[in-house]
Amino acid sequence: MFVLLVLGFMVLCLILPGRGEQRETPAPVQAMVFPRGFLWGVAMAGQQTESVPASDWTKFEAEVFRGHRFAQGEKIGATPPGDIHDLGRWSDQVRIHKAGFDLLYDQDIDAAAQLGLNAFRVSIEWARLFPRAGMTQPDPEAIAYYHRIFAAMRSRGIEPVVTLFHYVSPSWFFEADTGGKRGWERADALMLWQAYVDAVAQNFIPEVRIWCTLNEPMVYLYDGYVIGSYPPGEKRGDFAGARDVYAALLRAHVEAYRVLHRVARARGASVSVGLTQNLEVFEPYNRYSPLDRALAWVVDKAWNWDFLDAVASGRMRLTTTGIDVPIEGLAGTEDYVGVNYYSRNYVRGDWRHPFAPDVGNIAPDLPHEERNDLGWPSYPRGFYEMLTKVGKRYAKPLMILENGTADGAADDKKRQRYLVAHVREAWLARRDGVDIRSYVHWSLIDNFEWVEGFDARFGLFAVDYEHDFHRTPRPSAALYGDIAHANGLSAAMLSQYLADPETAANATGR
Ligand code: BGC
Repeated sequence: MFVLLVLGFMVLCLILPGRGEQRETPAPVQAMVFPRGFLWGVAMAGQQTESVPASDWTKFEAEVFRGHRFAQGEKIGATPPGDIHDLGRWSDQVRIHKAGFDLLYDQDIDAAAQLGLNAFRVSIEWARLFPRAGMTQPDPEAIAYYHRIFAAMRSRGIEPVVTLFHYVSPSWFFEADTGGKRGWERADALMLWQAYVDAVAQNFIPEVRIWCTLNEPMVYLYDGYVIGSYPPGEKRGDFAGARDVYAALLRAHVEAYRVLHRVARARGASVSVGLTQNLEVFEPYNRYSPLDRALAWVVDKAWNWDFLDAVASGRMRLTTTGIDVPIEGLAGTEDYVGVNYYSRNYVRGDWRHPFAPDVGNIAPDLPHEERNDLGWPSYPRGFYEMLTKVGKRYAKPLMILENGTADGAADDKKRQRYLVAHVREAWLARRDGVDIRSYVHWSLIDNFEWVEGFDARFGLFAVDYEHDFHRTPRPSAALYGDIAHANGLSAAMLSQYLADPETAANATGR
C-alpha cells in the first residue's frame, strides 16, 4: 500500500506543474482603477530609519561594530548570523540615525504627500517609550515626537498606520528574570508589553485608527530564535524550539487587540487592528522531485499559514510538530489580515537529511529569472496567489502593508516594473473578490535593512548617507505618484512597463 502511495505521488509529480508561470500581458491593456478611498502608502520602521538608543537591536549593532563582524566582501543577501553587512563603513551619525527620519520626517512626510499618498506606515518603538526597566510612565519626549509625526501626516491628509512590534524591543526586556528567562519568555513579559500598549492606546487613540500589532512574526521567530541572525541570536534549530516565544507573540497580539479596542470604545472612537504576515511563495526546486514537493508544501504551511490560522481559530498548531495548544481569547482577533509580499523561494530536499530543507532563490529551470539586488526573484503572479488564498481562507478585509524590492540603480528600472506588475496583481485579486483596502510600498526611502546593512536599497528615494541623508527621488517615485494620483494603473503604464519585449523576456525567465 505504502509503495503504491509513493508511486502514485511520483506519477503526480510528473503530471502536476509544481511551478507557477508568470502571467502573460493581455492585449489590449485596459486601465485598472481601484475604488475610491483606497489607501496608497509607504512603510518604514523605527530601527531601520531613525535613532532608537535603548533597543535590543541597537545593542546588537554596537556589539557587531565593536567585534568588527561586518561580513565584508560578501554579497548582500548572504550575511552570516552574528554579522551585519559592511556596518563598519558608515559614520557614527549614520549608524545612530540610520536613514535620518527623526531629523527629516517633515520633509519625508511632505514628499509622500506630494506623491499623492494617503497612508504612511511607521512603528511606535517600545524602546523609545520605555527606555529603562521599571518605568511606569512613558517618556514624554517620545510621546511628543510621535504626536509631531502623526500631526504632520494628518495635516497633509495622510492616514497613519502604526506597527507596535517591528522585531524590536527595549534591551532591558532581554535581561533575565528571577527564573532566568529573557524577553518573550520572561514570566512578566505580557504584563510589560501590556504597559507599553496601554501607554500607546491612551496617548494615540483616536489620532491613530489603523493598528498593526506584530510585523512578520515568522521572520522574527526564524531569524531571532531558529537561526539566530537577529537578536536575541538564539539558534534553536526549529519553530518547536521557540514554541514559548511563538505562543507569547500570539498572546501579545490578543492583549494589544483588546487594549486598543477597549480604549477606542471608551472614547467613542473606532480602530482597525490586525497583524501583518510575511507571505512567500515556496515551490519545489526540482518539480519532478517528490521530496522537494513535499517539503515545499510543509514549508508553505509552517511559514505562511500556521500563525494566521492560529489567529483565526484560536489554536496554535505547528505543522509537523504535534504542538496544538489553545490560546485564550485569540480566535478572531483581527479586523483585517495584513500581507507583506516580496518574492518566491525554491525548496530543495536531501534524502540523507529529509527534514532539513534548503530554501533558496534560484531554480534550475529559471536561470534568468529577474532578481533584485538581494537575489530575490520577482514573481508578481505569486502576489495574486497569496492575496486570493488569504481572501478565501479568512474572509476578512485585507491590507497590503508591504511590497517592494531592493534596486539601488539610479534609473531603478527593476523597481518600476516590479511596482506596476505587483499593483496589477493586487487589482486582479480585487476584481476576483478579495476585499483589499490598501497598497503600502516598502519603502519611501533607503534604510537599514537589518543584517544586510545599508546596501540593500528599497527606497523610492535614494538616501545619500555620505551627505547628511540627502534624498533624491528615483524614477519609481514619480511613477508611484502617478499611480496614486490615478488611483490605479493607466493603460499606458501597463503597456509601457509590462509589455516591452525585454520585460516580457525577463518576467518569464526565458
Ligand atoms: C520587513 C522589513 C524589511 C523588508 C525588506 C520585511 O520583511 O518588515 O523590515 O526591511 O521586509 O526586507
